[in-house]
Amino acid sequence: MTTPRKVGITDTSLRDAHQSLIATRMRLEEMLPVLELMDQVGYHSLEVWGGATFDACMRFLDEDPWERLRRLRQGLKNTKLQMLLRGQNIVGYRHYPDDVLAEFIKKAVANGIDIIRIFDALNDLRNMEKAIKFTRKEGAHAQGTLSYTISPLHNIDYFVKVAQDLKETGVDSICIKDMAGLISPFDAYELVGRLKSEVGLPVQLHCHYTSGMASMAYLKAVEAGVDIIDTASAPLSMGASQPATDSMVAAFQGSPYDTGLDLKLLSQISEHFNEISCSYEIPRAVMGVDANVLSYQIPGGMISNLASQLAEQKATHLLKDVLAEVPRVRADLGYPPLVTPSSQIVGTQAVVNVLIGERYKMVSTEIKNYLRGLYGKPPGEVDPDLLRKVLKDEKPITGRPADKLEPQLEEAKKEIAEYIEQEEDVLSYIIFPNVAIDFFKRRKGLLPPLELKNSCDTDIKTSTSNTNNNGQSDLKLEAIHEIDEALVINDEYNYIYPAG
Ligand code: CO
Repeated sequence: MTTPRKVGITDTSLRDAHQSLIATRMRLEEMLPVLELMDQVGYHSLEVWGGATFDACMRFLDEDPWERLRRLRQGLKNTKLQMLLRGQNIVGYRHYPDDVLAEFIKKAVANGIDIIRIFDALNDLRNMEKAIKFTRKEGAHAQGTLSYTISPLHNIDYFVKVAQDLKETGVDSICIKDMAGLISPFDAYELVGRLKSEVGLPVQLHCHYTSGMASMAYLKAVEAGVDIIDTASAPLSMGASQPATDSMVAAFQGSPYDTGLDLKLLSQISEHFNEISCSYEIPRAVMGVDANVLSYQIPGGMISNLASQLAEQKATHLLKDVLAEVPRVRADLGYPPLVTPSSQIVGTQAVVNVLIGERYKMVSTEIKNYLRGLYGKPPGEVDPDLLRKVLKDEKPITGRPADKLEPQLEEAKKEIAEYIEQEEDVLSYIIFPNVAIDFFKRRKGLLPPLELKNSCDTDIKTSTSNTNNNGQSDLKLEAIHEIDEALVINDEYNYIYPAG
């Protein structure tokens, strides 16, 4: 055990917590009144941007994500602001070329971000290294991430090795990102202890509460010397979100690990989040303990998504078969951690395999691209039979996937010249072309503004991913190709831990 020390708190209420519990629907106007209080707390940092918030701002809230960031920066002058970046996927669902990544990071930092947490679904360093380099170039803190999962390959040694590699690329700290809430308290203790002694960088632990173990994992991690833990204001905590800031601060009060944060101030902040329109309507589905997570080691959100895909096919009775098929598909693919986009790729294929009754008779474009190496290097060996069956004579690429991509920035600027009001617009457009164009049109008055209901009253709560207006299923097996953005956003709700 290392010397006891003050534990830092990163509060996620303005990003991950509402992404996990209320489909990323918290509006800027619901945040602004509490910023002054939050700025007095003395958090290590506030996670306020990135992940699904970028897309949700334009798609659902008629907000410019860049303007949101500037306003948050304005209101939080004394607190470090943090964002989540999906490595080479930036805040989207596919790889983007390096010129776009560099410009995005430059603008994120220029508009107020201090710390960038960079992850890759496959823990493939090549998908993170440019983001790390660009972040440091802009003078921001580059946090390297371990996407935590459990598999025959993913043991403590594996994660220590990834952390060491991250350190060599120049990260300032390491985050253990337990998006499915799988880490047990004793594994957290061991992993943190080894990272501290063998890697020697600050370590931050990010857990979701889904399995009910997160606060115990935090306690043991703190005993092992973790520097920072991620928590959320009480009304936006637990369930699919993080442990409560209020509880964790109270738990360490008076101990050698005392966070030094003022509980009274925190309770005023909780009061605010209690009163915003959506916090008391958090759906039951994302609260409580999901025991399936523990037995299947499949993220809880993914299970509910599989269930809804099956319901649309009137095949709910096959859920158990699908749950058993998921780990087999995952093994065939070399054990990718189940996080966006790999969770969708694996889940959909498991459903298809079970529905057709023959494994891999039909495969999605994503599986093909995954096997081609276009998402990066799978953690383990891919099943050679599957590889042959799908790719025939084609050989997977061995290089960094983004090396295949042409620069996009200059061309895109021309494409949307008529809409550009700020340099950042071109980035919004490249990452979410259709969503951004609609947003720009509304901004110019060419389309009517989005009808904003209160933030809980969203269709997404009740709809499932592929249901058309008649309530009929649109999901056709032949039609399973690309991960369509809208589907993923629905998944962000169902899939509670898409991008952490
Ligand atoms: Co998270």
